[in-house]
Amino acid sequence: MSKRLTTTAGAPITDNQNSATAGERGPLLMQDYQLLEKLAHQNRERIPERVVHAKGWGAIGTLKITGDISAYTCAKVLQPGTETPMLARFSTVAGEQGAADHERDVRGFALKFYTEEGNWDLVGNNTPVFFLRDPYKFPDFIHTQKRHPKTNLRSPTAMWDYWSLSPEALHQVTILMSDRGLPVSPMHMNGYGSHTFGLWNEAGERFWVKFHFKTQQGHAHFTNSEAAEVVGQSREGYQEQLFGAIEAGNFPKWTLQIQIMPETEAEKTSFNPFDLTKVWPHSDYPVMTIGEFELNQNPENYFAEIENAAFSPSNTVPGIGASPDKVLQARIFSYADAHRYRLGTHYESLPVNAPKCPVHHYHKDGTMNALGQRSGHTDAYYEPNSISESAKEGGLQEPPLKISGDADRYNHRDGNDDYSQPRALHDLMDENQRTRLYANTAEAMAGVPEDIISRVLVHYDLISPEYGAGIRSARSKLSEMHDAAD
Ligand code: NDP
Ligand code: HEM
Repeated sequence: MSKRLTTTAGAPITDNQNSATAGERGPLLMQDYQLLEKLAHQNRERIPERVVHAKGWGAIGTLKITGDISAYTCAKVLQPGTETPMLARFSTVAGEQGAADHERDVRGFALKFYTEEGNWDLVGNNTPVFFLRDPYKFPDFIHTQKRHPKTNLRSPTAMWDYWSLSPEALHQVTILMSDRGLPVSPMHMNGYGSHTFGLWNEAGERFWVKFHFKTQQGHAHFTNSEAAEVVGQSREGYQEQLFGAIEAGNFPKWTLQIQIMPETEAEKTSFNPFDLTKVWPHSDYPVMTIGEFELNQNPENYFAEIENAAFSPSNTVPGIGASPDKVLQARIFSYADAHRYRLGTHYESLPVNAPKCPVHHYHKDGTMNALGQRSGHTDAYYEPNSISESAKEGGLQEPPLKISGDADRYNHRDGNDDYSQPRALHDLMDENQRTRLYANTAEAMAGVPEDIISRVLVHYDLISPEYGAGIRSARSKLSEMHDAAD
């Protein structure tokens, strides 16, 4: 039997096609509440899109832990044999919600694990590093990626101006302009937690950790011209491929690997292990395979389950913690703040964000708070109270972190080597990969004033003279092609 159509208040609707009017030719009756409700709801169908990573694709799955890292962490989600339900949302960074999927951009790789100890979110990218090491620069950096205030167009000049003055970005820019800057689908890329995080065990020992998710589908990439052709056919290629693969039962998988550094070793490394523009070399910190995740279910409703999803680096569980990485520290503030704006104060009441474990707290009231305060006792709505000892079972406490130094604004460039790691990446590419890297970089520089390009090429030469020369030669080829076409 078909379900009865109702107003949002549950009253039956007998006609959902013809407005109530005074006479056959109108005008409308103000009392046609059903029409008013329909129009009012339509006006509220859109919520603010994410300020970055607005275009995304997501699915539901399971994380399985196979390795034993109980010596490093007491987190239940990371114990051998544990299976945890999860949500993944992949995204591009700069484009708006309607942007084409196959654009050259960093891809977001956001994971939410619904553990029995609360939600653990790893909000990473498909790259192990980032464009900056001081979060103070993030809003300015993002302005260069978004539209110019006057032209309302993306501005390569702004991007290269910023990068030419921010050499720490060129490691990430090298990945962006390499093959990995344009994966064929979300299934064909790795994910990286990127930051250094903390793990701690029951004995109160801390270890620093990097998380890597390696695609089991293999890497596959498009060139710029292949992508242009694909975008000409469909702007939604990632959605089609991810949704289609899961509908067809071809469930994508990623292997979970970690790198571990004992806490005190961080003072001895030749590089700052909390610098987000750097990786930990594999030769010094080998990867350990500890599990895998599989995506095996499409959301029933994209808006409710993917658009409404709120991922935050502040969501950690006992046994997993933050690190002194300044960018991670800033993100701990930024995401929950964004969610309160984008989704509302009680965004964690939405089913996709709600923890799948008991929740007890003393926060009270607020817009759309359907659950009241959740201390576990109606009269115990403050603390301390003599009514009920609610919600404070002694959990494990994160070990203290030693802090040293004077409070100041330290120059994040002092003593930093911005060139060796991008050089290592450049040098591991074969000739064809380098040719594409140079060509993609040259193409991205089209229309940018020469003084900006000269400034950034100085940095490329410092990474490797071959890299600088390669970009110069690719630029010459491009302008010859344009001259020939004119
Ligand atoms: P390794 O030779 O041990 O590692 C090289 C890594 O580079 C591999 O993990 C490979 O990833 C990855 N890689 C290959 N091509 C690209 C590309 N176009 N874009 C991004 N990554 C790519 O050397 P090191 O550990 O000393 O690292 C050398 C450089 O490799 C680093 O400076 C960094 O730029 C890059 N890299 C390092 C990672 C790390 O955690 N150490 C992680 C990813 C990149 P895969 O095995 O997944 O194919
Ligand atoms: C999304 C801020 C750096 C990965 C977002 C959002 C904000 C934000 C406000 C939108 C959140 C929402 O509305 O739900 C910042 C700030 C950063 C920073 C302030 C640095 C200072 C990074 C880094 C990574 C990253 C380093 C990856 C390593 C992501 C991802 C999303 C996102 C994947 C999309 C999450 C989703 O799918 O909902 N960021 N970000 N960001 N960010 Fe960042």
